[in-house]
Amino acid sequence: MPGPGEVLLRVQAAGITFTELVWDATWFRDGQPRTPVIPAHEVAGRVVESGPQVDTVRVGDPVFGLIPFDRDGASAEYAVVPQENVALRPLEVDPIHAAALPLAALTALQALVDHGGILEGQRVLVQGAAGAVGIFAVQLARLRGAHVTAVAREQDREYLQLMGAEHVIDYTSTPVTADGDGYDLALYAANGAPTEATYAAVRTGGVLVCLNAPPDGELLNRYGIRGQFFVVEANRGQMDELANLAKTQQLSIPIAATFPLAEGRAAYESGARHGRLPGKTVLVVETAGTWLASS
Ligand SMILES: NC(=O)c1ccc[n+]([C@@H]2O[C@H](COP(=O)([O-])OP(=O)(O)OC[C@H]3O[C@@H](n4cnc5c(N)ncnc54)[C@H](OP(=O)(O)O)[C@@H]3O)[C@@H](O)[C@H]2O)c1
Repeated sequence: MPGPGEVLLRVQAAGITFTELVWDATWFRDGQPRTPVIPAHEVAGRVVESGPQVDTVRVGDPVFGLIPFDRDGASAEYAVVPQENVALRPLEVDPIHAAALPLAALTALQALVDHGGILEGQRVLVQGAAGAVGIFAVQLARLRGAHVTAVAREQDREYLQLMGAEHVIDYTSTPVTADGDGYDLALYAANGAPTEATYAAVRTGGVLVCLNAPPDGELLNRYGIRGQFFVVEANRGQMDELANLAKTQQLSIPIAATFPLAEGRAAYESGARHGRLPGKTVLVVETAGTWLASS
């Protein structure tokens, strides 16, 4: 049942982030274990019930959003979400694509804009460019007028160029090196931590944004660069911005794979495979026929 300020959603689709299964917030709240847990914190669904004091969405609204990580997620028929964590889904964006936006695209946007301070004309390096976050980072950096170098596998070169990358480095054969004087902004959106080569590729005074842990202070000092680490937060204004970019087809939402809810385990296990298609893996909770009937 939704509490004050919360809504109950009938889940249509749920985006998954493979690494969420190793995040503390998935398993603990206030230091206490909270198992069993329901993963998948990116949701697209329809509001079926409102708690008291809900004034931003109404029953029947199509929405998408980011569920706080220490709450149960959306790999279920229903999910309870704070109203401030959801935004209206434009009908031009179907639930599967909307479910791919909240965590991955918001992370890319917040990394580039809020933490990286991206400016038009800057040289931006995106490592993990074919992944769920990376593919949005490439597009959003390009939309802001940056010159993007994408680091991924050779198989994704053409696709990343189509998404706006000026240069693509195949990380399996070519080391990352500075482009001229170095990159103004580097986003490390692969798993784990960047090697020293990434720090060295950033120009003096530039910034390195990492998504898994704070960058190494000694290496930041050695290369005279700034480092940032953050955890993505729901932001309704930014979700509206992303939905509008998708609606107007300025932002492409690639889906690497979909799985029915009953195959949730296989969906998470697919994350261990290298060389997946670019983009996001999504659980389909309600079938398209049902959306059409209820839209
Ligand atoms: N701080 C936050 O708020 C936040 C939010 C979202 C995600 N994250 C973190 O960000 C990372 C990316 O998340 P995601 O959902 O985008 O994961 P993902 O979809 O698995 O993408 C990671 C991509 O990096 C590629 N890759 C692996 N090693 C690489 C390397 N050395 N250079 C370039 N690319 C490489 C992978 O492909 P191959 O392995 O096939 O090459 C894959 O395409 C995860 O570690 C996640 O935990 C943090």
